[in-house]
This record gives sequence, C-alpha cells and structure tokens, in this order.
Amino acid sequence: MVRRFAKQLFERTERVFDAAFSPAWNPFHHLGALGWYFFWIVLATGIYLYIFFDTGIINAYQSVDSITHGQWYAGGVMRSLHRYASDALVVVVFVHIAREWAKDRYRGARWFAWFTGVPVLWFIYICGISGYWLVWDRLAQYVAIETTEWLDTLGIFGEPVARNFLNGEALSDRFFTLMVFVHILVPLFMLILMWIHIQRNSHADMNPPTGLAVGTLATMTVLSLLFPALSHAPANLDTVVTSVNLDWFYLSAYPMLNVLPGRWLWAAFGGGTVVLALFPWLPRLRRPPVAEVSLPNCNGCARCVADCPFEAIEMRARTDGLVFEQEAVVDAGNCVSCGICAGACPTATPFRRAGGLVAGIDLPDFTVATLREQTLAATANLKGEARVLIYGCLQGPPIERLAGDSVGTVRLRCSGHLPPSFIDFVITRGHASGVIIAGCRPGDCHYRLGGQWARERFAATRDPRLRARVPHERFVQVWSGIAGKRELERALKQLQARLAGLGLYRRAEAAPAQTAVDNA
Ligand code: HEM
Ligand code: SF4
Ligand code: SF4
Repeated sequence: MVRRFAKQLFERTERVFDAAFSPAWNPFHHLGALGWYFFWIVLATGIYLYIFFDTGIINAYQSVDSITHGQWYAGGVMRSLHRYASDALVVVVFVHIAREWAKDRYRGARWFAWFTGVPVLWFIYICGISGYWLVWDRLAQYVAIETTEWLDTLGIFGEPVARNFLNGEALSDRFFTLMVFVHILVPLFMLILMWIHIQRNSHADMNPPTGLAVGTLATMTVLSLLFPALSHAPANLDTVVTSVNLDWFYLSAYPMLNVLPGRWLWAAFGGGTVVLALFPWLPRLRRPPVAEVSLPNCNGCARCVADCPFEAIEMRARTDGLVFEQEAVVDAGNCVSCGICAGACPTATPFRRAGGLVAGIDLPDFTVATLREQTLAATANLKGEARVLIYGCLQGPPIERLAGDSVGTVRLRCSGHLPPSFIDFVITRGHASGVIIAGCRPGDCHYRLGGQWARERFAATRDPRLRARVPHERFVQVWSGIAGKRELERALKQLQARLAGLGLYRRAEAAPAQTAVDNA
C-alpha cells in the first residue's frame, strides 16, 4: 500500500523529469551512476586538497584557510566541490534506495545489491563526519566532542575517547593523524564495497550521460563560486561551542544527541541498519521458476549471456557431446525470471513447428511455446482490416482492457522477453495486420536492460534482429510505462487508422494454408 503510493509518486515525478530532461538525461534513471560520479568528484577534489593540507593540529586550520582564500579560484573551488559533491552523494543515494524499494527491485535474486548497499551508507557517513573534523574549526570541535562522547556511550573503549578533547593540551597530533587516516582509508573500503554492490548487474550503469555529468558539475561549480565552503572560527578547546552551522546532509543527527541518550541513538541506528539490510526478506518475494537450458536446443552462441541483465548465465565447456564448444548454464541464485534470455535465443522462433518449439533457454512457467499459443489464441478471432495484436510487458501500461473485436493482447514478463521473430510471424503470416509492443519508459526497465535490448533488436542493431521484410508502418513501439495508458490508446488509434487506410487483404484469404499449419 505505502509502496504502491511511493511507486506512483516516482512514476509521476519521473514523467515530469522525462519531459524536462528527456528520458536519456533523466537523473532518476541514473541515480546509481550519479552516486559513482559524485564519489569520483569527491575523490579527485580530496586528492587536490590533501596536497595542500597540513595534518598538524595547529596547522590544519591555517592550511585549509589558505586553500580557501589564498587560491580561491582553484583550492577554494575544489574545497567547495568536495563538499557539494559529498552532499549530492547523500541525496542521490537516499533517492536511489527509495526508488529501488518503491519499484520493488530489491527482493528475490536482487537482494544482493540491496544488502551490500546498506553498509555503504555507514561508510558515506564516516567519511563525511571525519571530513568535518579535519578543518579543526568550531564546527570540527563540536563534531569531535559530540562524536567521541557518543562513541564512549558504547562502553567498548578502555579509556574514554572524549578525554582527548578535554582541553588544548589533551589533544595530540597522533589522534589528529588517525582522523586523517580514517578519512582517507574509509573511502577506499567504500570503493571496494561499491564495486561488490554492482557485481550481479551486468552492464551496470556507472557513468551518467555526458549532458547530466557536465550539467551537475557546472551547477556545483557555479554554487562553489557563489557560495564557497568556508570554515568557522578556529577550534578552541578551552571554550565551549555555543552555535554552529550544521551540514544537514551529514550532521542532522547531532542535535538529537542533546535530547536522547547516546545508547538509544546507537540502538536506533544499529537496529535501523539491520532492519534495512533485511528488507529483501520483509516480506520475501515468491520467486517464479528460474530460466532453464535445453541442451539439445542450445548451439552455444552466447547471446543469452550477452543479454542477461543479472549475470545469471555463463558459458561452460560442452557436456553432451554435441559439436558445439560451449553450452549455457544458469546460476539459479542470480536469475530473476525475466525471460530476456529467451528473447535473445536464436532457437526461440515461432516459425518452428509448434510440436518442436523448445527454445535453448526458456522460462519453465512461461515458455516460448506458450507465448506462441497465446499469440495464436489472441489473434484467432480478430475481425476487420485493422486487426492489432498488442504485446505488453508486465510493468508497462495496462493492455487487457483494450482487447476487443479487432484488438488482441498478450502479456510478456518483459519487453526483452519477446523474440523479434514473433512480430515477423504475426504480421507476415497475417495473424494480425499490425503489432504494438508496450513497455516501460526508456531508462526505467523493471529488469534493467530488457527495453533497451528490445529497441536495439527492433532497430536491427542487436541480435536477434527484426527482419527487414516486416513492414515498419505496421509495427509500433510504445514505451510509456505503467502510467502511460493514454499514449498507448493514442498509438492504437493511429495504427488502426493507418492499417484501415492501407487496404490490407483479409487474413483468411491471404494465407489459409499457412494459418492451418500455425494452428497445428
Ligand atoms: C554510494 C552508494 C551507492 C552507489 C554508488 C550505488 C550504485 C549503484 C549502481 C551503479 C547500480 C546499478 C544500476 C543499474 O545499472 O541498473 C545500483 C543498483 C542497486 N542499488 Fe545501489 N548504489 C549505492 C548505494 C545503495 C544502497 C545504500 C542501496 C540500498 C540499501 C542500494 C540498492 C541498490 C539496488 C537494490 C540495486 C539493484 C537494482 C536492480 O537490481 O535493478 N544501493 N547501485
Ligand atoms: S542464446 Fe540459446 S542457443 Fe545461444 S547459448 Fe544461450 S541458450 Fe544456447
Ligand atoms: S530469466 Fe534469463 S535473462 Fe532473466 S535473469 Fe534469468 S537467466 Fe538472466
């Protein structure tokens, strides 16, 4: 219920952004990639700052001050970019989490990315908080004292850490160097974790499109020039900090430390992390059967490996003695049952006789043979010149209510589940005069890459290609997403008007013998 509302909210907002940015540049479609991008900006600007940074307690503040003012055009901008990119990282990561959850892309076989993403959050915060510490101004003093007092409530350190900040003499250069070390080492661990995070996603989107990358960098640079990141007054442990400007992206929990006991907050954050990590099993997704390989029908072409979005197939040495060198093997743990592999397999063609239609790789609960049967059933009784078959992916616009005398519908798991030869089959064998495929909006495929592969297959730039003999004026693609009912209705009306104008032959007259074979 809550998730359905959140999903609708994302759908509506993303449609507005699609219109403003175009689907290709829509930031919602590249949140993970933007996360990587902001991480690299933080890393690059951090390296620059480190060159001029002095790690001593006394010199730290002065060195940051001279970076900010002495070379405002370079170091100052770098410092501000370092801060703004860190803030932007927090924003995109939280929207990324909310979006994956709202669109139910985190359960079942997809648990891995979610589970490995959760600790990244802690790393982001440790990096951010330790960064504020290094400036050694009044804000750093506040953060250092509050953090160490909070750490001490855990009761796991032999000596209270907060003692280091009792007064100026208590603070040692060694402790300060430790913080610099943390601030540099944690991002490296974070990088490793971010890499693990995307290991089960093939062709992971790690680079935002150029326009989005340049646009966000330009915006942050302008912000850096207009509102540069500045230090507070230097830290002074002999006085108490009374007021500071907090960075709400990283430090918003700190005011709570004045109100709630530290241990409660540990329990809240620790418990929250555990619950968040367990989300993929709360409740668990009922997984449909995973893809299966039929060795006698697999020729080892590896197209399914190239197209599987979840690294769920690999090629291994042939085990059945056939002449081919390799065979496809499915890793059941990674498979999300999207059917995109079946859509890629050259053996999945409806032109094969019905009795022999077994694809090299297929979904056991929704085989290519079933798809063929459903196609024939949906088109069997269509009437008129403008007979249209609509293939719709499960996450695309609703299609069932459009079914009628001249319109048949078939649901697919994903648009990438449909072998393009089905469109050829339906049109050239006269089962319908035209075909529509309706799917998720570009960049928002529920199974990551199904829509993209489908578009490339239809454009004949990716195997298996839609054959050139298919009259293109009779095939329409509608990538309008689950809320795109109106676009689909409009496209159907236009296609039917076009088909009526073409004066097409009647199916029964045109291909009676062929139809009898197809239905056999
Ligand atoms: C710095 C932090 C993070 C970065 C840079 C990042 C980046 C990415 C990238 C690049 C992808 C692949 C997107 C694609 O190609 O479709 C991805 C997927 C995913 N991320 Fe993250 N992520 C981060 C944090 C998180 C966190 C904290 C969570 C959740 C707690 C999370 C949950 C997911 C999930 C569930 C997917 C898989 C989506 C799918 O299966 O389609 N990520 N992330
Ligand atoms: S696409 Fe089909 S034929 Fe090619 S390797 Fe995969 S299962 Fe075998
Ligand atoms: S159904 Fe096929 S393409 Fe989809 S995840 Fe499973 S093996 Fe990969």
